[in-house]
Amino acid sequence: MAVERTLSIVKPDGVQKNVIGEVYRRFEQAGLKIIAARMLNLSQAQAEGFYAVHKERPFFKDLVKYMSSGPVMVQVLEGENAVLKNRELMGATDPKKADKGTIRADFATSIEENVVHGSDSVDNAKIEIAYFFATADLCPRA
Ligand code: PPS
Repeated sequence: MAVERTLSIVKPDGVQKNVIGEVYRRFEQAGLKIIAARMLNLSQAQAEGFYAVHKERPFFKDLVKYMSSGPVMVQVLEGENAVLKNRELMGATDPKKADKGTIRADFATSIEENVVHGSDSVDNAKIEIAYFFATADLCPRA
């Protein structure tokens, strides 16, 4: 299995619900290493840029407003099969459809307030990581 990197965001509801540590615990327990992290308030422009791929979708305005409504915690995860592993830990986008024991099944409120974001492919992970971090910010380790 390949060692991959993926971008993860604890969304405003996850920060507000005080589950950053619990989410990190699940990453680490699954063998994913946090190799960079920062907390920030996304501006509307930053959220629009990050979610530009969804700009034609009906929920785009709401998503941008929501993601810039409070602090988010952004991290890079590294590990074997990191993209899929993170998506499995997260569970389905809609918490009603998320498997039991996943982050979204346990903590999400709705399809909007769904606690976490995770890159959906290795290629998108590269783009999303570069959106928030310079190469020098990453601290990989054995
Ligand atoms: S996915 O995982 O990309 O296939 O999910 P998708 O359904 O395409 O949704 C993409 C992101 O949009 C968010 N979303 C919404 N936000 C607000 N309102 C509504 N109705 C809504 N539907 C979807 C969803 O949480 C996804 O966010 P990310 O950060 O990509 O997980």
